[in-house]
Amino acid sequence: MDQVNGSVVTEFVLLGLAQSLGMQSFLFLFFTLFYVGIILGNLFIVFTVVFDSHLHFPMYILLANLSLIDLGLSSTTVPRMISDLFSDCKIISFRNCMVQMFFIHVMGGVEMVLLIAMAYDRYTAICKPLHYLTIMSPQMCVLLIVAAWTIGMIHAVFQFVFVINLPFCGPNNVGSFYCDFPRVIKLACMDTYRLEFVVIANSGFISMGTFFFLIISYIFILVTVRKHSSKDLSKAFFTLSAHITVVVLFFIPCMFLYVWPFPTKSLDTFFSIVDFVVTPVLNPAIYTLRNRDMKVAMRRLSGKVISSR
Ligand SMILES: *[C@@H]1O[C@H](CO)[C@@H](O)[C@H](O)[C@H]1NC(C)=O
Repeated sequence: MDQVNGSVVTEFVLLGLAQSLGMQSFLFLFFTLFYVGIILGNLFIVFTVVFDSHLHFPMYILLANLSLIDLGLSSTTVPRMISDLFSDCKIISFRNCMVQMFFIHVMGGVEMVLLIAMAYDRYTAICKPLHYLTIMSPQMCVLLIVAAWTIGMIHAVFQFVFVINLPFCGPNNVGSFYCDFPRVIKLACMDTYRLEFVVIANSGFISMGTFFFLIISYIFILVTVRKHSSKDLSKAFFTLSAHITVVVLFFIPCMFLYVWPFPTKSLDTFFSIVDFVVTPVLNPAIYTLRNRDMKVAMRRLSGKVISSR
């Protein structure tokens, strides 16, 4: 990635999250603990699903893929955020800034499609139980995962090609603790009004649309269940509430970050932390603690590990 014609900026300055040593130490502990939790929790889900043949069902295969993406998404920002906490000049090279933006959007895009795939999986299981195994075949799972990665890549590349060619010549303070399209575009020395719209449309409207689509789908599933029996409703509600929680946690920050036209620094920081630090650690917790099969499988797995010693 070479410098673009006429641009003089070779590095960007990131925002510090805390000034005082006390606050820095607190955030250091907080983020480190969460990041370790993200790594262990998500890898644990992946291993449980991969090594337990009782869990070789579409729902768990998609869940394991979601865990990997969660791990990837938080790895785009959290390690750098932790190492930047105590450093005085938080400088990121032009190239690393571009790479960071690119991967945030690849991972974010894949996660978005995976959440749709998981909703579709639940829809088939609950509303078309007799056809579940023929519709959600292994081929279908592979297709959904390939589609998720393809859409994630297209989504990221589409914004990236615009930004990589922008001239950067003036101020280089990103005003955030990581690089992302809306903030970096504002630093270009040209009128970026149209480009900002491209980003709002590509990231903001898409996450907004997906969010409402998913919420409506889950309501539709619940209404369908209710028509049949009220006993099933409470069981379905139990499963689906985990999915709905994850959807809300992931999309509300996205919508604020990309659609909200007047971001304040503190709100911006808060929502980014929710998306990169809190959601990835909550996902494993939400799905496993609320899911009986998952808990049983984990017990089996830890039993195996202990007895093999
Ligand atoms: C992700 O999905 C693919 C396709 O269904 C599957 O083969 C793979 O095992 C999944 N990944 C994990 C970590 O379970």
